[in-house]
Amino acid sequence: MDNFNFYSPTEFVFGKDRENECGNYVKKYDGKKVLIHYGGGSVIRSGLLDRVKNSLDSCGIEYVELGGVKPNPRDTKIYEGIELCRKENVDFILSVGGGSCIDSAKGIAIGALYDGDFWDFYGTGKNVEKALPIGTVLTIAAAGSEGSGASVVTKEDGMLKRDVGSDLLRPRFSILNPALTCTLPAYQTACGTTDIMAHVFERYFTNTNEVEITDRLCEAVLLTMIKETPRVLENPDNYEARANIMWAGTVAHNDIVGVGRSQDWNSHGIEHELSGLYDCAHGAGLAVIMPAWMEYVMNHNIMRFAQMAVRIWGIPMNFENPEYTAKAGITAFRRFLHDIGMPINFEELGAKEEDIPMLVKNLGIGSGKRSGFVELDANDVTEIYKIAAHAQI
Ligand code: NZQ
Ligand code: ZN
Repeated sequence: MDNFNFYSPTEFVFGKDRENECGNYVKKYDGKKVLIHYGGGSVIRSGLLDRVKNSLDSCGIEYVELGGVKPNPRDTKIYEGIELCRKENVDFILSVGGGSCIDSAKGIAIGALYDGDFWDFYGTGKNVEKALPIGTVLTIAAAGSEGSGASVVTKEDGMLKRDVGSDLLRPRFSILNPALTCTLPAYQTACGTTDIMAHVFERYFTNTNEVEITDRLCEAVLLTMIKETPRVLENPDNYEARANIMWAGTVAHNDIVGVGRSQDWNSHGIEHELSGLYDCAHGAGLAVIMPAWMEYVMNHNIMRFAQMAVRIWGIPMNFENPEYTAKAGITAFRRFLHDIGMPINFEELGAKEEDIPMLVKNLGIGSGKRSGFVELDANDVTEIYKIAAHAQI
């Protein structure tokens, strides 16, 4: 196992009706003037926004609001939020919604305390030195942004999707009420599942040996998702299954299952170009990319892929031909994604094969390589996109 620090300072407030306590938590973390930030309207329709406002009112906390965050959140909304925060002297941002809303809130949190352009930090590695504190009321189990230090934003001019990471962006608190996710369309639930599983797989495929504890934690999260996702698709109001998925989404990405081991993240990088260019859901893009990446890199460590096949998908080990077992595991993953309603190739996603050179160019590898489980150059990424373009069950 590698040396590591594990820092996950967020207070997670989990369970039924807990959103009614958000005023108390804003107070606890010294928020006096709040920006309530939300998406395209699901929180208005569900009545959640009103409950959040009631809670802030009852704690005597002032607020302004800014809705309209789109999935794959845009820089333009963040500029609006920064201006509003400065004008209204906002000192705390409360995101009410999904990963897009949280990531937009994180962008505003950086920009409100920075003299230059908040975009300077995205995709550049520039260190975030200050950010407004944020809290979240989560409405979809997916991105894990409620516990992560990451923010992923799309620049509208050119539709380039880039990210930033800093511990300063980890929410002070995140309210997780699984019942809030019952109104999700089945497609969004499935996109969330795919993203959660992908966050685990990005960590599972490692070059670090002797990491039994995190291997087993990863497997627990994956097995939970495989069990619970069909249950919520069949009965969207199944609270207990929603609860297991919601917590799985958080632990999949606050890094508790990934510490002490090298990680990959190439499927995410390769996918972000798809959701940037085509504005598709991130989870749907991952459903197309991740199995393709697995097929391409499998030979790097057949036994690790065979382990996934046996432990996650229940495939018997073929000791004479471990490659057969490994392949069967990847096929089982792709079939699971298909069965929960995810696209599995470019056509189903709405992507175009002729755009592959542009996708590779946008990724910005140039003549270099992306590090990870297997280092990838531009040719490798091209091949992965091609496998993804033509994948079939
Ligand atoms: O905008 P509203 O009206 O709220 O509708 C949203 C949106 O259309 C809807 N929705 C959310 N909760 C709902 C609901 N509809 C009904 N009932 C509810 N309870 O679902 C749609 C998708 O929402 P979004 O916030 O985009 O989903 P998600 O949480 O999957 O976030 C995706 C974004 O997170 C980024 C992705 O790249 C993508 O931009 N990621 C962020 C990460 C991070 N910050 O750590 C890591 C991830 O790997 C990921 O890249
Ligand atoms: Zn993701």
